[in-house]
Amino acid sequence: MSTTSEHFTQAAERFDRSPTSQQLSAMAEKIWPLLALDPKQHWLDFGAGTGVLSVPLAQHVAQVTALDTSAAMLERLAAKQVANITILNQDIFSGLDQHYDGIISSMALHHVAETQRLLHCMRQALVSGGQLALIDLYAEDGSFHGDNDAKGVKHLGFEPDVLMQQAEQVGFHQLKLQHIFSIEKRTGQSYPLFLLLGTAR
Ligand SMILES: C[S@@+](CC[C@H](N)C(=O)[O-])C[C@H]1O[C@@H](n2cnc3c(N)ncnc32)[C@H](O)[C@@H]1O
Repeated sequence: MSTTSEHFTQAAERFDRSPTSQQLSAMAEKIWPLLALDPKQHWLDFGAGTGVLSVPLAQHVAQVTALDTSAAMLERLAAKQVANITILNQDIFSGLDQHYDGIISSMALHHVAETQRLLHCMRQALVSGGQLALIDLYAEDGSFHGDNDAKGVKHLGFEPDVLMQQAEQVGFHQLKLQHIFSIEKRTGQSYPLFLLLGTAR
């Protein structure tokens, strides 16, 4: 089991009660007006975890597939019994046999070492014209998680320009980036999150 999987097996039970998750729930409503959502669409939530985005997204579209390598996190999501959420316990790099109208992801990118390979997989999994919506930390000093290695953190946030360039190289266009939310920690430090939007060519 990888460090990331071990960390989330431990974290699953208390995940929804953590101050960070509670703040992220409030972020969801800011995202939907920025997407072209349609009741016929099928979306993939990459690194869905306990469903902080999958659950509210499922109210706007026909189907959400919640993909995550952590069975423990997905068990928490399954317990919420949302009829149009399908659980997919696998690594995105093992290949997907569907094409989606959109892919969303919150706070999972920084756990994947090979960002461009991940973006390529996402492009391959989208229909032409499909939407990409990625939320993660701007580059930070490592204090967001604290114990980065033990938590399977592979990137201390991102330089959005680099991410946008990588997305363009694997076949996304109409790329747009904005600040979407900030997570406030008990230390008083605030961590801004970006939302990267793109369209599959
Ligand atoms: C910080 S949690 C975020 C969960 C949820 N998206 C949220 O915003 O609350 C990161 C999630 O990404 C998942 N993850 C990390 N690497 C992954 C990979 N290669 N494939 C699928 N899921 C992965 C973890 O298991 C974990 O559930």
